Amino acid sequence: MKIAVAGTGYVGLVTGVCLAEHGHTVTCVDVDEQKIEQLRQGQTPIYEKDLPELLVRNRERLTFTTDCAAGYRDAQVIFIGVGTPEKRDGSANLKYVYAVAGQIAETAERDCVVVVKSTVPIGTNDKLEEFLQARQTHPVRLEVASNPEFLSQGTAVRDTLHPSRIVIGAESPEAAEVLRQVYQGFDAPLVVTNRRSAEMIKYASNDFLALKISYINEIANLCELVGADIEDVAAGMGYDERIGGRFLHAGIGYGGSCFPKDTKALHWLANFHDYEMKTVKAAIEVNDHQKLRLIKKSRKYYRDLKGLTVAVLGLTFKPGTDDLREAPSLVNIPILQDEECRIQAWDPVGMEKFRALYPDGIAYCDSPEAALAGADLCLIFTEWPQVKALAPETFRRQMRRAIVLDGRNCYEPEAFAGSGVVYDSVGRGTVGEDSGMCQR
Ligand code: UGA
Repeated sequence: MKIAVAGTGYVGLVTGVCLAEHGHTVTCVDVDEQKIEQLRQGQTPIYEKDLPELLVRNRERLTFTTDCAAGYRDAQVIFIGVGTPEKRDGSANLKYVYAVAGQIAETAERDCVVVVKSTVPIGTNDKLEEFLQARQTHPVRLEVASNPEFLSQGTAVRDTLHPSRIVIGAESPEAAEVLRQVYQGFDAPLVVTNRRSAEMIKYASNDFLALKISYINEIANLCELVGADIEDVAAGMGYDERIGGRFLHAGIGYGGSCFPKDTKALHWLANFHDYEMKTVKAAIEVNDHQKLRLIKKSRKYYRDLKGLTVAVLGLTFKPGTDDLREAPSLVNIPILQDEECRIQAWDPVGMEKFRALYPDGIAYCDSPEAALAGADLCLIFTEWPQVKALAPETFRRQMRRAIVLDGRNCYEPEAFAGSGVVYDSVGRGTVGEDSGMCQR
């Protein structure tokens, strides 16, 4: 099929490339000249596993352009995969979605289904169709369908090629049929519903996962107080298929471009309808507190953080991505800076973006070992494999005072017994507290 995709971010680009992999002819449209040029040269502007190979392999079926008319004019299907960032009040900002819709209305010269992949508030697809039909300049049938995406950064290609489900929200059998054809080669259950339910499935799924994380984080915090071990507790819970073992990893809270934004957006939407989503509100509050957990804990070991050398391992919101959006590092590093700490940071792929935000006052290191050198405190924000591979001995050898606060439970606490390292993780007991190394 002849498909256009608006937006070459995580959602748009991965969708476009994966649809090309399935034999469709795809034109990816973006306003960013630089990105498009990079893509034309076979380079991906985002760090995402398997994407570069797929991009090269499908180059015959892929076109990249800033000329929206060229993309939309004769497309049978146009996917909208642009961002829906958070507004100051927590609601979703739809200006990019509407900007694309305006261009489609102006340029589409063939009957086509406009498919919204971006996460949008319930009812947006209906409004978008009215908007398109009121502005279209050619006498063609423009219909809107919802097709939320469920990819995770870091595994985006795999998630798109092997989705857990494909949700199609359409108001006419014809539009649903077009999407069925798009996904003909995919092996996944199809959920065909109306547009509003499809929009809700996306929010309800993301917010449920966010809630699951906040719940396990609260249980972890309580485990610390009562002497239980969160890893054992989560494992014991996860065997129950009604609960499931995934997304039960306690840590310093969820980040990224989706959970923080989508929880706030649903909460906002409920409020707008005079209803309070108490569970979602709690998930947001717990997460805000959780992100500060390590800083709070560090005061257990140092009354005053002023002037300490602090090693920060991991800057991105999770491993496998260079994305910093809503990452715990962004909340914690400014606090360390206020305390006039000497910050030695390491991240395998996130440092360039972080340096663009914080060019001064942080020593960006080539290796975890270099970040640890002479440090009084180590804060772990991202569970990169290189961090997980560090031995207790490395912390002891490299650091001035080996106090390790692990926000991602990267190690077995027992490994630190007798190591001379104080190891304090989330929801588990602290090891090595009696080593006499802490300045209380
Ligand atoms: C999330 C969802 O997982 C996807 O299904 C969804 O399609 C996507 O949002 C989206 O809406 O576009 P993503 O934000 O890429 O994907 O990353 P996740 O793997 O879900 O992780 C989000 C955050 O939760 C990370 O900071 C991660 O460290 C944290 N997390 C995750 C935990 O703290 N504990 C867990 O058990 C799992």
